[in-house]
Amino acid sequence: MKKSTIKLFLATTALVSTLNAATGAEIFQSNGCAMCHQKNTEGVGPSLQTISMYYATKEDALVAYLQGRGNPIIDPSKASLMNQQLLKLKGLFDEEFRSLARYLINSNMQNQNMNIPNNF
Ligand code: HEC
Repeated sequence: MKKSTIKLFLATTALVSTLNAATGAEIFQSNGCAMCHQKNTEGVGPSLQTISMYYATKEDALVAYLQGRGNPIIDPSKASLMNQQLLKLKGLFDEEFRSLARYLINSNMQNQNMNIPNNF
């Protein structure tokens, strides 16, 4: 392939993936994450509030964790329960992992009515 063809291909792929990308909230809902992660109450898994407290300043670490490249920091003794869930996310685009991480981190601020938009 010519270099220019490759560039065009890469640009098109990036555009298509942006157009199809789901928001963090959509990914959270459609994968059943809410079954174990409630907003403010600890359930089978930590609440979104707890997750956002741990990861507020560690967005990159949360992306890595969601991509299966990181280590759990909240409740590693229950990591095996969560590892099965991470498998569901395998096919996501990079920016979708980013949106999901932002959703998890910012849901804490949404609870406090800080007008953080829901559509990351
Ligand atoms: C069957 C219950 C269950 C479901 C469904 C579930 N989780 Fe979890 N999750 C857990 C448990 C238990 C933990 C605590 C384990 C840990 O912290 O390692 C956890 C921990 C986490 C953590 C914190 C990891 C850390 O650093 O310790 C994140 C982030 C997370 N889940 C995101 C998600 C997302 C996103 C989904 C949906 C794709 C999801 N979870 C679905 C049970 C679940």
